[in-house]
Amino acid sequence: GKGNYRHFMEKELHEHPVVIGETLRQYVEPATRAVALPPLPFDPAAVPRLTVTACGSAFLAGLVGRYWIEGLARIPVEADIASELRYRDPPLAEGGAALLVSQSGETADTLAALRLLKAGGQRTLAVVNVDESSMARESDARLLTVAGPEIGVASTKAFTAQLSVLASLAIGFARARGRLAPEEEARLTAALLELPGHAAALLEDGRTIQALAQEVAPARDVLFLGRGNLYPIALEGALKLKEISYIHAEGYAAGEMKHGPIALIDPAVPVIALCPSGPLFEKTASNLQEAAARGGRVMAFTDAEGAPALRRFAERVIELPRVDPFVAPILHAIPVQLLAYHVAVLKGTDVDQPRNLAKSVTVE
Ligand code: M6R
Repeated sequence: GKGNYRHFMEKELHEHPVVIGETLRQYVEPATRAVALPPLPFDPAAVPRLTVTACGSAFLAGLVGRYWIEGLARIPVEADIASELRYRDPPLAEGGAALLVSQSGETADTLAALRLLKAGGQRTLAVVNVDESSMARESDARLLTVAGPEIGVASTKAFTAQLSVLASLAIGFARARGRLAPEEEARLTAALLELPGHAAALLEDGRTIQALAQEVAPARDVLFLGRGNLYPIALEGALKLKEISYIHAEGYAAGEMKHGPIALIDPAVPVIALCPSGPLFEKTASNLQEAAARGGRVMAFTDAEGAPALRRFAERVIELPRVDPFVAPILHAIPVQLLAYHVAVLKGTDVDQPRNLAKSVTVE
């Protein structure tokens, strides 16, 4: 049941800390802080190329995975939504491997892509939440997300669990390829293991996001901006807001603004920015400043280090804990999902069963 929560989605949002912790426990040794992966159907040290495919939020988790795996392990990664991949007949690398990401393990397009990739000679690894699912059975190996049943149509805890698995994979791949010193690995896993505590603190202080939701709820259109591994989280924020509040939202890479979307900037279009301190901070901040200079109302998620610079022009600055940039996508996923939830509650939509949507899309 929903316990004391109003909606399954609210309950599931509050499960982020436990789910991230439980999932990491499967793949990170707490004592040594080393990633320990089960046997894989391919050798990460030798694999020439990976294909990541999925649908919806699971695909967005896969996109973050691409940034992590390419950045840390230096394996070329192709990422595409399953409904495109399966019909565009992509050339597949000899000896290549594929990652399928799915909560249900039953999504029709992802399952069809799995079959196509297998037939094309790729070794397949499924990141799934349901162990008895078709994808778990048909892939060469599966890694489980330990999210428990997810009832709300909007994916929440399954998404951060997918990210937790993909981050562990990127670290494991990087080590297998001799690209990660043990101290560096310990630093990254320590950053991951701190996330449940940070997530719990974020969820405890519900007021900040509720206040932001008051600003966003009257809007007809909303823009979400981020760069690097936060660009997919901008897409996730926009997807979740569309899905449950029926507000039109777009996620963009911040650097793409001046190539079109900046024409939308108007006081009626809130700009939600994901802009923590780190190597991309200055670039993102300057894109946001341009939006503010054109009358945009910038509402930025950052940390204590990034806040002073953003306060000079942003209407709202929300400080999240300061984390290693590697784990920032997992941390930022939580407030953007919470924002969508609170906006939907204000709008009185059917949060757990949004119109026209099904939890598991088993037809294409
Ligand atoms: O079960 P799956 O993870 O394969 O589902 C994929 C998408 O249908 C799913 O993530 C969908 O986009 C969610 N409703 C997003 O919140």
